[in-house]
Amino acid sequence: MNLQGIIPFAHDLLNRAINENDVVVDATCGNGNDTLFLSELVGSKGHVYAFDIQAQAIETTKAVLAENKRDNVTLIHHSHAYLDQYIDQEQALAAAVFNLGYLPRSDKTIITKPDSTITAIEKLLPLLKKNGVIVLVVYAGHPGGKEEKNAVLDFVSELDQKEYFVLKYQFMNLMNNPPFVIAVEKK
Ligand SMILES: C[S@@+](CC[C@H](N)C(=O)[O-])C[C@H]1O[C@@H](n2cnc3c(N)ncnc32)[C@H](O)[C@@H]1O
Repeated sequence: MNLQGIIPFAHDLLNRAINENDVVVDATCGNGNDTLFLSELVGSKGHVYAFDIQAQAIETTKAVLAENKRDNVTLIHHSHAYLDQYIDQEQALAAAVFNLGYLPRSDKTIITKPDSTITAIEKLLPLLKKNGVIVLVVYAGHPGGKEEKNAVLDFVSELDQKEYFVLKYQFMNLMNNPPFVIAVEKK
């Protein structure tokens, strides 16, 4: 396939936005795949703040980072809705990523929720530097997923075009609610 898949597309956006020494956020660290990716992109002098509400996700991510000898990540066992308690409000962020939905191979009832996801986006937007991005990979096939998808789409669609570019990247002919990407770039 020549068209870029959803995760490669999301990673490509992050790769373009992030330079060495940047500070970035993984809002849903889960199994740590995105956290590791971000940690490598920002390099040893950059920093990643990674959030998850599940202890299991924090432990798995910690192990992934240790295995890869990464020591530039602060792991936070708390909702991303409270990210302002952990990130200096003067801190300019190059990027943040959300993987919405539930942790694969885990409790499928523990999911990201519209209110906390939107609160986190609202708190991240003022911290983004020029050309900084928020990338969301949206899964809507699980119970509760459709409500979150609609709430996030409504919210980002209303962002002022003078301040932000907002993009949706989606395969349109796939069955069973395939994931898609939303990206918000600060002008
Ligand atoms: C789809 S998984 C993330 C996958 C992860 N990016 C990876 O690379 O493995 C979604 C994660 O969001 C977490 N989560 C749900 N609500 C959250 C919240 N309010 N704040 C932070 N994490 C949350 C879940 O515990 C779950 O681990």
